[in-house]
Order: sequence, then C-alpha cells, then structure tokens
Amino acid sequence: MRTVYLNGDYLPETEAKVSIFDRGFLMADGVYEVTTVLDGKLIDFDGHAVRLQRSLSELGMGNPISKDDLLEVHRELIRANGIEQGMIYLQITRGAPDDRDFAYPPEDTPQTIVLFTQNKPTLADNPVAKQGIKVISIDDQRWARRDIKTVQLLYPSMGKMMAKAAGCDDAWMVEDGAVTEGTSNNAYIVKGNTIITRNLGNEILHGITRAAVLRFAREAQMNVEERSFTIAEAQAADEAFITSASTFVMPVVEIDGAAVGTGKVGAIATRLREIYLDESRKVAI
Ligand code: PDD
Repeated sequence: MRTVYLNGDYLPETEAKVSIFDRGFLMADGVYEVTTVLDGKLIDFDGHAVRLQRSLSELGMGNPISKDDLLEVHRELIRANGIEQGMIYLQITRGAPDDRDFAYPPEDTPQTIVLFTQNKPTLADNPVAKQGIKVISIDDQRWARRDIKTVQLLYPSMGKMMAKAAGCDDAWMVEDGAVTEGTSNNAYIVKGNTIITRNLGNEILHGITRAAVLRFAREAQMNVEERSFTIAEAQAADEAFITSASTFVMPVVEIDGAAVGTGKVGAIATRLREIYLDESRKVAI
C-alpha cells in the first residue's frame, strides 16, 4: 500500500480522507503538478515549483507550503514508496469551507494539499516510444485559461475516450483551425531540421518538458519555430511528436488516419528523446 501525503501527514493511502465540501471536489477549484522520477530523483523540480506558484497566483490562491518543504515531501514519498521510476502527483485546492458556496471561502480557510506517487518501472524504456502513437483531432472545448494547470480535466478525459473509441492513443485539440495541444501534452511537428510547436499563451499549458526540449533542440543546432500549425500541415510534416512529464518525447506516427512522414518513428524525435533523458538524468535532484 502506498504512503501518501495529506495536509502535513504521511498516511497509508486508504486513510487519507478529504471533506465532501472540499472545493477541489465541488468546483474543480484546485491546481496540480506532475513531476517525473528517474533513478529515484526528481526531474525539473524547480520548473514545476515555479509553475505551481504561477497557477496559484493566477487563481488568487495561497501557497500552503514552502518550496523547500515541498521538495522534502517529494523526496520522503520517493523514499517511503521505493520509487525508482514514476511520477509524483501534487494537488492543492482552496480547501473545505463549511458549506457549498460559489464565493471563495474566507482567506484563513485551510487549503488542502495532497501528494502521491505513481510507480512506473518502464517509464524511460517505454516500448511505445519505438512504435509511436496515433492521434485523432478534436475540437478544443476547454476553458480559455489553459496556461493555469487546474484539475478541470473532464474535457481532456473525454478526448482520451474519443481517441480510444477511434482506435487511437490520444487526441490533438484544434481551435480556430490550429492545433493547441494534446489532451495532456504539448504537440510538435518537424519539417526538415525545424521543430514547430505552438507559441506560448493562454491557449496551452506551458509545458516544463516543452521548455527543456526546445532548449536541447536549439543546443543541437535544430531550428525552433514557436507558432501555430494546422492538422493538414502536421499530416504533411516529416515527423510529429508530443512532450510531457510522463511521456518525455513520444513520436506521433499517424494523425486522423494519415501517416506522418514514413509512418515510422522519426530520427529527430528519437534523438530528442535520448537527449532529453540523458540531460535530465544528469541534473535530477
Ligand atoms: N500533463 N499540456 C497539457 C494540457 C498537459 O496536461 C500537460 C501535462 C502538458 C505537458 O506539460 P509538462 O511537460 O509540464 O508535463 C501540456 C500531465 C503530465 C498530466 O496531466 O498528467
């Protein structure tokens, strides 16, 4: 049984309980982060801590834990659960007032903070990375502040189910004719030596993996264009891939039934995955 963290306590997962009045439960009034663990160490902890603070600030929510304490909790959960490879999920909500109310509760209402581990022993050696994934395109029907990492994940869940129903692995969301991102990842195409991915804005989550991968791509003398692209441009690209804390760099070989490039995993996505894993491991804490 996992040891999890809830509001200052380390508990067996079955003993960690949250109020039915918690605003995370009633209103999706909460934010989250997912941080990768490789070799029992954290990848990009600082980046996740900075984005967490930004999400909280954008929603006028306090931060119930200091960065140092947060690092300590992550490390203690890795230790207690013997995690070599996997993820740490963190969620902070505006807490549990006495009753349901649309208005925010008083500022002194204690917030809820939960962390738990997800053990994924084959995260880095994921066999899917050798085959690539297939995606469908769907309309982006999420709210307009996707830069805030809130726990409102119903539409992304629906997108995943639409992809499964179509015999595919994920969905790329499209707004005003352009791809925003995947259900839980950022989307990229490759044309020649150029990597193209949507520019940052409120329309997409500012991926921590995205920032690292674009830096590594530039260091490897690849060109990077941060701009919108269409599904037709993606289908005509040489390669496509996604990035996230749980997939790293994952090749996309088919979009809406059309093969991307050769229909096989491409050289650039493969190389970026290797660089990302090597470099991230070097600086993991
Ligand atoms: N998802 N875009 C969306 C909508 C996401 O949910 C995520 C992450 C990303 C990639 O961000 P990062 O590189 O920081 O993981 C982009 C996480 C992994 C999840 O919900 O499980």
